[in-house]
Amino acid sequence: MIKKNINILAIESSCDDTSAAIVQNGKILSNVTATQLEHTKYGGVIPELASRQHQKLIVSVVNSAFEKSGVLKSDIDAVAFTIGPGLMGSLLVGVSFAKAFAISRNLPMIQVNHMEAHILAHFAETPFPKLPFLCLTVSGGHTQIVRVDDYFSMTVLGKTLDDAVGEAFDKTGKILGLDYPAGPILDKLAQQGTPRFKFPEPQIPGYDFSFSGLKTSILYFLQKQVAENPKFISENLNDICASVQERIVTILLKKFRKAANDTGIKELAIAGGVSANSGLRNALKILAGKEKFNIHILPMSLCTDNAGMIGIAAYYKFLKKDFCATDISPIVNLQVG
Ligand code: KG4
Ligand code: ZN
Repeated sequence: MIKKNINILAIESSCDDTSAAIVQNGKILSNVTATQLEHTKYGGVIPELASRQHQKLIVSVVNSAFEKSGVLKSDIDAVAFTIGPGLMGSLLVGVSFAKAFAISRNLPMIQVNHMEAHILAHFAETPFPKLPFLCLTVSGGHTQIVRVDDYFSMTVLGKTLDDAVGEAFDKTGKILGLDYPAGPILDKLAQQGTPRFKFPEPQIPGYDFSFSGLKTSILYFLQKQVAENPKFISENLNDICASVQERIVTILLKKFRKAANDTGIKELAIAGGVSANSGLRNALKILAGKEKFNIHILPMSLCTDNAGMIGIAAYYKFLKKDFCATDISPIVNLQVG
């Protein structure tokens, strides 16, 4: 008998990216994401606008994912979706779409934790990280060091006590007059600058992080400089960005290195939107060379929010027949583990 493929339709709608993917036997065949640009002019994600945009985009994004994969709707074996964490109105669109698709075709449904999916994106392409590994998960809403013992056995060793690192990039960028989301723009400018301004390093015990003090010290520094020279920001933008980025990266990697050395786990991965940052990627490579860590860095398409990672996580749940009931609803503050 010919072995049947396992085809999963995956939906991601936790924040402001509407995404659908087709994953076949644990491989991503298509991964289509529509990023909502409507939020740029507001300087941040407007929840109600995000859910309305998901409503507008979801059908065409799903159809496009099917077209690109070559898989037929009748060949789908399960429907996966992000259950949380995220914005309630945004999550509801993906969950409701997944329910309608699954119930109308009598298919099982698979709920996926968005933050666990960011980490499990590392199982989309070989070489996979060896278990156990540590993952530095850095996004717009989270900053965590996670110990991964198995696909769904994860322990948070450290996390941010205030702002997430993506927020630190976005809020600093806003002070500098950059568009939302500022992270990728600040990264580009930083590549042309020199990190010659020094910002203080927060003194937080253990593996936890704090970024709100850094944001305030950058704000005070800029206010003081602009009072002396109103053109200070425009004349020094690249160097300011390089200095901010360097400080953020050293804060992240100092704690990540400590966790690796304390646990003795040499297998290290980074995930989430901020793992697209060139400064972080380069500094991790340098650290790995010095300390003989084995590192795993995702392709850009799997760093920021995407349904491919939801489909990968769902594949491992499918193998365990870990399906969910049809009365499920989003969990806005869902935790890892
Ligand atoms: O994982 P993600 O797409 O969404 C959340 O789950 O939050 O992460 C989005 C965050 C935003 O804060 C964005 O500014 C940041 O990731 N980001 C970056 C870069 N690309 C995206 N931050 C710094 N450098 C980048 N290259
Ligand atoms: Zn995310």
